[in-house]
Amino acid sequence: MGIYHGDMESMNNKKPAILCVDDEPLNLKLLNTILLHKGYDVRMATDGLQALKIIDAERIDLVLLDIMLPGMNGFDVCKEIKDDERYKNIPIIMITALSDTESRIKGIEAGAEDFISKPFNSGEVLARIKMLLKLKSLNDDLLFAYNCIADLTSFGEQAMHDFDPSNFSYISNIDRVVGRIIRQNAMELDKPNTVIIHTADEFDSWHWLKYDLIDGHVVKSSIDIDIQCDNCPHLKTTEQVFSCTNKDDMSEAGIDTFVSILESMGIKVSNIIWYFGGKFCVFAINYGRSIKKYDTSILKNLVMQGLFMRSLSMQLTETENAFEYAVYALARASEANDEDTGNHIIRVGEYSALMAKILGKDEQFVNAIRIQAPLHDVGKIHVHPDILRKKGKLTDEEFAVMKNHTIYGTKIIGNHKRLELAKNIAMTHHERWDGSGYPGGLKGIEIPIEGRITNIADQYDALRSARPYKPGFDHAKTYQVITGGDGRTQPQHFDPDVLRAFKEAASQFEEVYERLKG
Ligand code: C2E
Ligand code: SIN
Ligand code: SIN
Ligand code: FE
Repeated sequence: MGIYHGDMESMNNKKPAILCVDDEPLNLKLLNTILLHKGYDVRMATDGLQALKIIDAERIDLVLLDIMLPGMNGFDVCKEIKDDERYKNIPIIMITALSDTESRIKGIEAGAEDFISKPFNSGEVLARIKMLLKLKSLNDDLLFAYNCIADLTSFGEQAMHDFDPSNFSYISNIDRVVGRIIRQNAMELDKPNTVIIHTADEFDSWHWLKYDLIDGHVVKSSIDIDIQCDNCPHLKTTEQVFSCTNKDDMSEAGIDTFVSILESMGIKVSNIIWYFGGKFCVFAINYGRSIKKYDTSILKNLVMQGLFMRSLSMQLTETENAFEYAVYALARASEANDEDTGNHIIRVGEYSALMAKILGKDEQFVNAIRIQAPLHDVGKIHVHPDILRKKGKLTDEEFAVMKNHTIYGTKIIGNHKRLELAKNIAMTHHERWDGSGYPGGLKGIEIPIEGRITNIADQYDALRSARPYKPGFDHAKTYQVITGGDGRTQPQHFDPDVLRAFKEAASQFEEVYERLKG
């Protein structure tokens, strides 16, 4: 949407500018007198080229155009203006000789809106100007509304196109919406230069966010306003859009308290549109012109989009939580036959996430491994409790049974793309980098990275914890076993990169164990 060329009312209450084009200085002088007297801004040109230059250089709301001009005649000037996308909406009144039918036909063909005859009657000139300016204003409104709708539609399309359900952030979506509402540069007078949002995010935590136009950039900040939209008698939740353009309106609408707070924060308010809707309130402040009814519709539309996204995001969060809950429930079930291993499964997830992060994995992977690594031993549910709880060393037969927990786990988890990491981890968390692990004897990068990561996470925690067959070791001893080996465990069992990540994160491992040892 370009800069909006509005009418007298809409553009800062500026006077309409009328360009008079006539090679006869006396005529210009006469028009000037009549128009100035009525409060119009007058520009004058004595030939067509000069007229076109003025139109290029400044805002012109209407042209009074003589036909007989030196160089380009009036018809050519008219056609030039009407052929230009930028200027074709500027009304043109051609000045013709009395009852010169042929000129009128040529004028209509060139696109002129109206005609006045010389010698002109000032009352008639003014009446026609007034009527055409009114028409132009309506036209501008229509065009403005059309542009707004086109703009909103493309914004909505883009939002849907970019919507990533697994990676949605409500607040960054608000940033996008505000980006659309607010002025993006100093020239864009038709938008507000400050937008304030009061909203609850998908975790129901409330924010006051302020977006300002500063040196041509939109700058976002958090602010602290001691008003609660629901509780403040002045800021009732109404699910409606309101606007105010002067102080009297503001106190009548009950927004004056809020406006005073803003002004005490150094935000001068000349006009304001606001919307309250439950968990989303928006205040658009200081449009560079007076507010139109379209502005309220636009705001409402954008708000609706924000609310829709919020609701979607909350449903996603809820689904995500349910997913996590189900994963933990399953992981817990697998511990039923085991000695009490406390938060073992949760800690293994945390250690795995720590290493994944150090290994440069993206946030999505880090979160996925945190949630899914706890399923590594889910297959133990099929292993007899007598084996699981045996106080001493396992026999070869018993250990052979035990090794199958990897395969059982893989079967229990099955094939779902949301649980692909869990499946790989169940299968490969006892594989070893040097190929001496089970069940597949996979070697090096044949073992998926999630298996290599969880392998160290699992061993760290098993070593720290007391098991029926072993006492718990302290952090230093555990660190020693993993990095230096103890005969059973050897450094070449581990992916060197993952081992490096373990060393880097070792103090955080200790912190996680202490925090979650319950
Ligand atoms: P877990 O107790 O959760 O142990 C997981 C892994 O931690 C073990 O995998 C092993 O790599 C490491 N780990 C545990 N304790 C020690 C230790 O004292 N020293 C060293 N160096 N590493 C240790 P692994 O060996 O494949 O065993 C898988 C599962 O088999 C164990 O899970 C446990 O449930 C069972 N298990 C293994 N050895 C014994 C045992 O001697 N007696 C009993 N009752 N169960 C055992
Ligand atoms: C708040 O906690 O900031 C108030 C929430 C509301 O508007 O009701
Ligand atoms: C991965 O980044 O998922 C694989 C890289 C590796 O095998 O180390
Ligand atoms: Fe295991």
